[in-house]
Order: sequence, then C-alpha cells, then structure tokens
Amino acid sequence: MARLDCRAVPTATATRPRVFSGMRPTGQLHIGHFLGALGNWVRLQDEYECVYSVVDLHALTTGYEDVKGIHDAGLEMVADWVACGVDPERSIIFRQSDVPQHAELAVLLGMITPLSWLERVPTYKGQIDELGDHLQTYGFLGYPLLQTADIILYKATRVPVGQDQLPHLELSREVVRRFNHLYGDVFPEPEAIISQAPLLLGMDGRKMSKSYGNAITLASSDDEIDRQVMSMVTDPQRIKKDDPGDPDICNVFSWQKLLGASDAEITEIYEGCTSATLGCVADKRDLAERVKALIRPIREKREQLMEDPARLEAILEQGAERARAIAGPVMAEATAAMGL
Ligand code: TRP
Repeated sequence: MARLDCRAVPTATATRPRVFSGMRPTGQLHIGHFLGALGNWVRLQDEYECVYSVVDLHALTTGYEDVKGIHDAGLEMVADWVACGVDPERSIIFRQSDVPQHAELAVLLGMITPLSWLERVPTYKGQIDELGDHLQTYGFLGYPLLQTADIILYKATRVPVGQDQLPHLELSREVVRRFNHLYGDVFPEPEAIISQAPLLLGMDGRKMSKSYGNAITLASSDDEIDRQVMSMVTDPQRIKKDDPGDPDICNVFSWQKLLGASDAEITEIYEGCTSATLGCVADKRDLAERVKALIRPIREKREQLMEDPARLEAILEQGAERARAIAGPVMAEATAAMGL
C-alpha cells in the first residue's frame, strides 16, 4: 500500500489555485457521474490543488429521518472516486463532518445572511414541492449557506458543479461580498466551473437515476450491464429488423457517441440503422461491449478498495487532517474579523 502524503498545504503558500467540490453520500454513483462530474474532478487535479469532500452534513439536510446508511455510503463513494482516478495523495479527500469548522463557519455566515436571500434560491421551494414538507427545516433552508462555508473555508476560487448548482454559487458570491464589505477582505469570490452534464439518459429514456432503476452504476457486473443495455429503448417506430430506424432519436446511438465510438464506427452504425442492415439487438450488443470495457477497470478497482475499508478510512482521516490544517487558520481569520 502506498504511503499517503499527509503534509498540509498552507493557504498562503499554495502555488496552484484551489478547487473545492463535494458530493452527498446518498446512493451509488453511476456512469453518468463518471462521465460528468468525476471526469472533471480527475482532470482538474493536473492544474489545481483540489479539495473534495463527502458532504455528509448536507446528506442530513434531506435524509435526517433515516441516517443509518450515511457513514457506509460515504466510504463507498470514496472507493468510487478513487477508482475513477481521484488521487488521495494529490488531492485532499475528506468527510465534511470530520472538519468541525464547516459547521462553525456556517453559523457565522448565518448571522449576516438575510432570510429572503435563502428563501429566494430556486431549489429551495422547488425541492420542498417535489420532496415534501419534511424539508421545512432550518437546516434545509441553510443548505446553500453550509455549501458556501465548504468552499470559502479553503478560500477556493473554482468550484466544479453541474448547471443546477449555479443559484447556490450565486448566493455564495453574494454572501462573500457581504462578509468582506462588513469585516474586510477575507474571502475570495468563488467561481463555478460548469461540468457539462453528459446527455446520458437512463435505459428507459428518463433521467438516469439509481432510484428509477434505470442506471448503470460503477459497481454493475458484466451481466447487469448486458441486462440493462438489452432493455434500452431504441427508435419506437422500428418494430421489425427490416424497418429502417432513426438513430437521431435512439438512446443507444447517443450512448455510443458519448462513449467514444470513432467517427468511422458512428457512420457505420448510422448507415446500418437507416438502411435496416443493422438490427437493434446487434447494435445493443455493440454498446454493451463498450460499456463493459469502460466500467470493468473501475469496478475492479473499487472492489479492491472496498475489501479494505481500513484503507478508505485512512484516506479520509489523513484528508481530514490536511483539510483542518487549512480550515483552522482561515476560521481564525474569520472569527477575528467578526470581532470574536
Ligand atoms: N450541493 C452540491 C450538490 O448537490 C453538493 C455540495 C455541497 C457542493 N457542498 C459543496 C458542491 C461545495 C460544490 C461545493 O451537488
């Protein structure tokens, strides 16, 4: 086992700009996460000092009634991250709740944030409408403020997130401006790096989500992948094999393009489908092979990691130590600025 490098990188001497991002430990990651967010996280490591957090406090904002899965889901998520190429030596990987300054800074930010700013965040009312009244809590209203604390505790300037997170980032910037206006320039304004959400839909053509049962997770076996891919919906007008199909409305075809089929392969598939020489079953077999080739090495790596939970805990512990070494001094700056 490689020794982890647990030197903390002090804020003042960090030469590379800092990135912060987080994911809630609320379920298994799927191929869409890999091609979207995680792919970005991995690439950013070359250019930035990256801090990636298992945001378990955020998981509590929606899942506070059923908490028994949170700890293990976090561990499993770290296995997924590392299997996809997030490097625990180059990047700081830690659990949010292991660094108490997140909660502490969120309380301070709560002092200066008008309620109306939080009520105005579009995801707030939207999520309550969608998920129900159990979200009428103080914690859920404060979600974007805790997220702001996550980011600015590391003075991170770049935040890779999906499009859906832009209102949160906008709020973070407003809160930072207010803080700096009141107490002096302490925090930089964070900027989003938008992860292009890959347009990978689930097997049934709906948004891919573990809870719809239409996702290929990073843990899927070859058999599961075969089964999932063979169940995919193609051009609904194409009933018999000798009906010509329309690849442009076929979910299998969009997957093939996103999974790196070459231009020549794409042309061949396109022509095969429109001339009815390539059947949907054969085409799905082709896709299944591509998906298996992509998932197999990730699955094997994550299985290996899951066999050694102590190593995963060690990654998180050493990550937390490095995170606290940055968060501590920044928190001291913030409390001093606020006259405490
Ligand atoms: N709200 C983010 C999401 O659901 C997760 C998150 C929490 C986050 N804290 C963060 C993302 C800080 C970026 C930076 O995707």
